[in-house]
Amino acid sequence: MCGIVGYVGPKSTVDVLIGGLRRLEYRGYDSAGVSVISEGHLQTRKKAGKLVNLIGEIDSHPIPVSHIGIGHTRWATHGAPTDGNAHPHLGGTREKLSLIHNGIIENFSELKAELLAEGTRFASDTDSEVAAHLIAREYDKAGDLVVAFRTVVNRLHGAFTILVVHEDQPDVVLAARRNAPLVIGLGDGENFLGSDVAAFVEHTKRAISVGQDEIVILRAESVEIIGFDGKPVTSEEFTVDWDATAASKGGWPSFMAKEIADQPQAVADTLMGRVDSEGRVSIPEMDGLSAEDIKNIDRIIIVACGTASYAGDIAKYGIEKWSRIPVQVELSHEFRYRDPIVTKNTLIVAISQSGETMDTLMATRYARDLGAKVLAICNTQGATLARESDATIYTHAGPEVAVASTKALVAQITAGFLLGLYLAEVRGATPSSELQKLGRELLRLPAQVSEVIEGLDEAKALGAAMASAKSVLFLGRNVGFPVAMEGALKLKELAYIHAEGFAAGELKHGPIALIEEGQPVIVIVPSLRDEDSLHPKVISNIQEIRARGAKVIAIAEVGDTEVGQWSEHVIFVPETEQLFAAILTVIPLQAFAMALAEAKGLDVDQPRNLAKSVTVE
Ligand code: M6R
Repeated sequence: MCGIVGYVGPKSTVDVLIGGLRRLEYRGYDSAGVSVISEGHLQTRKKAGKLVNLIGEIDSHPIPVSHIGIGHTRWATHGAPTDGNAHPHLGGTREKLSLIHNGIIENFSELKAELLAEGTRFASDTDSEVAAHLIAREYDKAGDLVVAFRTVVNRLHGAFTILVVHEDQPDVVLAARRNAPLVIGLGDGENFLGSDVAAFVEHTKRAISVGQDEIVILRAESVEIIGFDGKPVTSEEFTVDWDATAASKGGWPSFMAKEIADQPQAVADTLMGRVDSEGRVSIPEMDGLSAEDIKNIDRIIIVACGTASYAGDIAKYGIEKWSRIPVQVELSHEFRYRDPIVTKNTLIVAISQSGETMDTLMATRYARDLGAKVLAICNTQGATLARESDATIYTHAGPEVAVASTKALVAQITAGFLLGLYLAEVRGATPSSELQKLGRELLRLPAQVSEVIEGLDEAKALGAAMASAKSVLFLGRNVGFPVAMEGALKLKELAYIHAEGFAAGELKHGPIALIEEGQPVIVIVPSLRDEDSLHPKVISNIQEIRARGAKVIAIAEVGDTEVGQWSEHVIFVPETEQLFAAILTVIPLQAFAMALAEAKGLDVDQPRNLAKSVTVE
């Protein structure tokens, strides 16, 4: 959580920092602040609340021209979201050093006690301020900022990206990274730092991802990277494959609305180069895993959190069905701390939009230590997860800014299905002709997703009409079950109302007790054409809840002539393969939740208490 940005160069630093923070605000919006060095002196402005409050503060107390500085947007961990706890934090009695931090310093109590014993006075309740005072103290002793910085970061435990500027060294920003993201942007006579490339992509597309336990010494004309041990580090540059317009609203009322509309492209780009016109699937990025490795896999464990875990739940149906490899889906944080069985023949598939979710990183590190291979499904170039995995299938959804995941989800499901088809082909588990038929069906998805998006008015109207609902339940079977859970999550996080997703078959085992007169229930109905006869079972479930007063909204396949008799409303989606319907049926649920939240006057891009990227455990 928290977004950080740093800059050295000829441009107006405040403008660069505010522009970067605007693009990073999705990472946290409890407070924001900047420190720049101007005419030899630190100038700091910070304010609780969203970035707009900081902008107001700078307008009322303008900052003189500056060419170096750091900026922060906060998701509060230690200390309430107040002006005082907002970053940057100043270090030392002379307050010549300014620091911003993303992460948690786990040993801060012990370090704070040491400083308090020396008489240090603290201005905030944060763990971060401890690091500012420690570095200032070491600098006063050593007279060398890099040495002081390195000494202190080696003493910190936990997760941190830290950026520091000091009045005595007005040409350099120092940064350190452990277990939290940091990317360098390389410019011409200027350089940037950011939590992700969004911080600087409007200025440069040349980037370097900073590795674990590395320190960056950033000047306008040079970038030096050393390890926490002081030894030089060489790093590879990469080119950001999207531009700033991809991360702007482009005329849409919200990022979420734009990202819902981006979904046909997200699916198409994720398929691109991976399925040929005959439907044959190849995933060149899987080269890190040999055919031998793939044949030896005896179990797949998908680790992920939140929406990404539902993508995993959906992918599981395809991977098991086609490749016949047993798949279990685990929430990363539960998996990591329950002594799971992992062997060298286990393939861990880690799904993460950001590639920085700490729970997922900890799960994959743990599994690697036990000898497993890790395959990432990730949307962010240069992310830690991708760097730490044996292979990465990138979902080419483009930058996802709204906190609620939409286009990343459909891209993750697409990638999961591609993986299933690929594994099945390599292992010879399903006839190639059948796999190719499915591959060709996948190619139809982008157009079908467009069709669903063009028809979202009904889902939006139903959502808007339900602004006063106290609770909405979601039911589904097979892939419809994780779709139902995702529908419920969207509603919880966006509209702050009670919502639950249930397996329709589970209804009679308890949840049906929740049904009373007028209870809205959204049901994901499997295809009438489906061979496993799930359709009649779900129709029976609908009848059971209607008999008890439920108001049913069904999401069903076009041509379903039965469902309308038993539902108040039916939203139809195009015909596709039974499992691929997950991608089409989830989209009306996104639009429903967005419209309901908007009708309640809520901010759909930045729901309360949340941050886009959960970089603490
Ligand atoms: O970046 P990740 O995909 O690892 O994030 C995982 C979850 O935190 C994320 O999907 C979260 O549940 C979304 N806010 C849901 O919309």
